[in-house]
Amino acid sequence: MKAVVYKGPRDVVVKNVPDAKIEKATDVLVKITTTNICGSDLHMYEGRTNMEPGRIFGHENLGTVIEIGSAVERIKLRDRVCMPFNIACGFCENCERGLTGFCLIANPGNAGAAYGFAGMGPYSGGQAELLRVPYADFNCLVLPPDAEEKENDYVMLSDIFPTGYHATELAGVQAGDSVVIYGAGPVGLMAAYSSIIKAASKVMVVDMHKDRLALAEKIGAIAVDDSDGSAVEQVLALTAGQGADRGCECVGYQCCDHKGHEVPNLTMNNLVKTVRPSGGIGVVGVFIPEDPHAKDKLAKQGQIVFDFGQFWIKGQHIGTGQANVKAYNRKLCKLIAEGKAKPSFIISHELPLDRAAEAYENFDARKEGWTKVVLKPGH
Ligand SMILES: NC(=O)c1ccc[n+]([C@@H]2O[C@H](COP(=O)([O-])OP(=O)(O)OC[C@H]3O[C@@H](n4cnc5c(N)ncnc54)[C@H](O)[C@@H]3O)[C@@H](O)[C@H]2O)c1
Ligand SMILES: [Zn+2]
Ligand SMILES: [Zn+2]
Repeated sequence: MKAVVYKGPRDVVVKNVPDAKIEKATDVLVKITTTNICGSDLHMYEGRTNMEPGRIFGHENLGTVIEIGSAVERIKLRDRVCMPFNIACGFCENCERGLTGFCLIANPGNAGAAYGFAGMGPYSGGQAELLRVPYADFNCLVLPPDAEEKENDYVMLSDIFPTGYHATELAGVQAGDSVVIYGAGPVGLMAAYSSIIKAASKVMVVDMHKDRLALAEKIGAIAVDDSDGSAVEQVLALTAGQGADRGCECVGYQCCDHKGHEVPNLTMNNLVKTVRPSGGIGVVGVFIPEDPHAKDKLAKQGQIVFDFGQFWIKGQHIGTGQANVKAYNRKLCKLIAEGKAKPSFIISHELPLDRAAEAYENFDARKEGWTKVVLKPGH
């Protein structure tokens, strides 16, 4: 089968590799029809994780079931399914509580597994023609009859729509709240979209990229352009000097100042400044325990200088981590099916799998107009 293989920093290639196959009785095999490139892939693509060369990327996957393991009961041949990026067993202590991002079984010795992901188990990704799906009865979301027609919407259920929603849950967003979101990438835009779905009164999205900010405005959020480094003042001005009720971090450890230099603690400390006393902060942007290629000593060890005194005195609270996609994907799927949500609005490029290298290069450069790429292995 053809697959997107990581060769080394900023180097991916589409090449023939051995076909994915059923390895356990609880697996199914899925023929991938849509698979996205994610901001999480970029940390790996840039060589800023311990991703091993030779592995297949791709954790945002949708396709058709073409083979079924002997112990699979619920999933049927030809079902159209979307897989959470998390691989979860469904029966461990964390899965039982809905915390499928922290499954204790799928990646032994660690909490949490995923397809094609650094540090999250040996599983191959789905930027390929075929994908092996473990614990398939638990992990496959079977899509409604309009699956084909709304494929570009449903594929966002694999990660970024639930992840954006998770950011708002961690922050505690409720109807009437004001929300500030750092990052207008796909995840930040989905956090803004989720806040709007939850009837937030005011949603402010901070970034420096005008094309991405324009998408935020299109869904009814207020764009806060940080090109001159004034985001904090702008948000405070928009919230009568108090800060927003809730804040979401949707950038991660590679966040930059307005001059484009990486400053890993910038968004976290800006959140402390721009969320009101007693407000909530949800952090879904990725922070990693080790970053050997970081420029400063602290960052190499995954540490940042955090304004804990301000955070404490303001009585804020914080929630972090990988999204438990399965906790939300069925409900968000119903919003899409009923025409109440259309997350495909963020897609800028729909390309055949063969053009993955070019797509990675442009998306990684945050090139104007490259907001989200969906790859189509069948084309
Ligand atoms: N927790 C999870 O489950 C989960 C799931 C998916 C993605 N993620 C993570 O979410 C983050 C965002 O993903 P994405 O796909 O949207 O990526 P992305 O890289 O396309 O978007 C990030 C955006 O943040 C902006 N940005 C950079 N510095 C900023 C700053 N100081 N203030 C405001 N904005 C700033 C960039 O200009 C960019 O538009 C990544 O770290 C990704 O790994 C986490
Ligand atoms: Zn993703
Ligand atoms: Zn589990």
